[in-house]
Amino acid sequence: MMRDFMPGKHVLLPALLLMAVQLHVAAQNNAAGENEAAADTSIGAWWAPDEGRLFPAYSEYGNATGRLGIINSAGDLDTREHPFFTALGSNGRACVTCHQPGDGMSLSVASIRQRWEATDGKDPLFAMIDGANCPDLPPGEESSHSLLLNKGLIRIGMPWPPAPYEPDPVETEFDIEVVRDPTGCNLSTKWGIDSDNPTISVFRRPRPVLNIAHMVELPHGVGAHDVFFYADKNLLHTDPETGEFVQGLLMADARGLTPRNQARDAAKNHLELKRPLSEAELQALEAFELQLFGAQSFDTGAGNLDGADTPPGLGPNAPRLAPRGTLGNNPVNRVFGDFSMWKAGQASSDEYADFKASVERGADVFFSRRFYINDVGAYNDKGLGNPFKRSCASGCHNTLAMGMDMGPFPMDLGTNTYPWQPNRDDLPLFKVTCKPNATPHSYLGPVVYTHDPGRALITGRCRDIGATMTQQMRALAARPPYFVNGSADTLRELVDFYDRRFNIGYTDQEKIDLINFMRAL
Ligand code: HEC
Repeated sequence: MMRDFMPGKHVLLPALLLMAVQLHVAAQNNAAGENEAAADTSIGAWWAPDEGRLFPAYSEYGNATGRLGIINSAGDLDTREHPFFTALGSNGRACVTCHQPGDGMSLSVASIRQRWEATDGKDPLFAMIDGANCPDLPPGEESSHSLLLNKGLIRIGMPWPPAPYEPDPVETEFDIEVVRDPTGCNLSTKWGIDSDNPTISVFRRPRPVLNIAHMVELPHGVGAHDVFFYADKNLLHTDPETGEFVQGLLMADARGLTPRNQARDAAKNHLELKRPLSEAELQALEAFELQLFGAQSFDTGAGNLDGADTPPGLGPNAPRLAPRGTLGNNPVNRVFGDFSMWKAGQASSDEYADFKASVERGADVFFSRRFYINDVGAYNDKGLGNPFKRSCASGCHNTLAMGMDMGPFPMDLGTNTYPWQPNRDDLPLFKVTCKPNATPHSYLGPVVYTHDPGRALITGRCRDIGATMTQQMRALAARPPYFVNGSADTLRELVDFYDRRFNIGYTDQEKIDLINFMRAL
């Protein structure tokens, strides 16, 4: 089935030429700007704002386990004066500063550190507003930027109390107390919860601006009309600009309902742009986001991921060609497709055969290996049952070719909440206490300790405390660390988190297979 919609997968012939050009450009940039770092090709070339470089129809960037391929489906793009690549605001940043092509249009800690060293901490990425633990710390010191340098985290200042959430306004159902404030920002008299502009600072990873066309598509295709949230349209988000239903899978707390909506917020907060984005800028940003597709294109263990002998769900053309808004939790549409050509014994007896067999097993563990999912706030309590026995793919990672949950609902997996998240003493800790008449968090009760109240800071609802959105699973190799707060430095740590959280009992081999599978996406 997956084969049928991948007819063009192997016809990207000019790609190789363009790739050579891109790698050449990358090498030149390194040589110009970063002297002895030039030899390090494991990290793609940094895009600074206003470079005026060509963004090619196809480009490749090295990472720790291979190469990432990015397709710009509209062809070569002249980035001169393009709003994604231009320092529009007052702090010298462009969108591309935090959404680097070489990092899967997100940011890896490796690139952040390299940038810190190359510019002595002066790159606009480190702007104090949100590239520091708090704007009032001394600039230029590593300790002031430790969360960005160590975990790739950007400060997000959320208004407190939450503004009434329009479709469903309630009075905020909880109080917040700052239990621990290692960044100083939540108790700061200028920036904190008791300042003139009461603000809660949480720290989050940039999410990839890649394959966004899949993030905004309303569900359709096989089984879609049976999907409960689609049948009951009341559960869908409405775009405040157009009044139309929108999918709303963007941002950790789903606060940016559409690319336009999100871009306004990003320009104001991250670029410190004091005027509204123009209609032309909004259109250019949205069009660019919707035309980018990407995935790992080469893996050091598996070789080429985009060739004739590769499973159809791999390589950058897979997200480009796959139908959107389609459930991948069923035998007809397996989320990342059919890997049987790499099955042990069936794969060609090349140097990569053992690794390919591991990827094939990993894909199967991901799709088929069921475990008990329990006590996930805003998930198990949605009528699914607690516990609910499902696999990674059939439980949550069900959007075809992409792996985020097609249900546009944040959930509390425990990446930020106690007791699930091991103590992160670098992050703020909040005690969230629900008011007596509020429906509490379904499993943690009326008092929750969390590093990030998540969706609750938008809706004001207790039952949303700690809830965040699942993410796409493409380009993982290009953008460690993982999870919304960067708590897994490696894919191994990510798998170990799930193993602990849900008592899965993966064997070591299953873990290795899962990791090999994920790094090939
Ligand atoms: C200082 C770093 C930074 C800059 C600059 C920046 N972003 Fe982001 N971006 C982030 C972070 C952090 C998130 C995740 C926020 C969250 O989840 O709450 C994000 C999320 C996004 C997302 C959501 C992706 C998804 O799958 O959820 C989009 C789209 C996006 N940014 C577009 C833009 C655009 C357009 C610009 C320029 C106007 C921009 N960003 C500038 C840090 C940045």
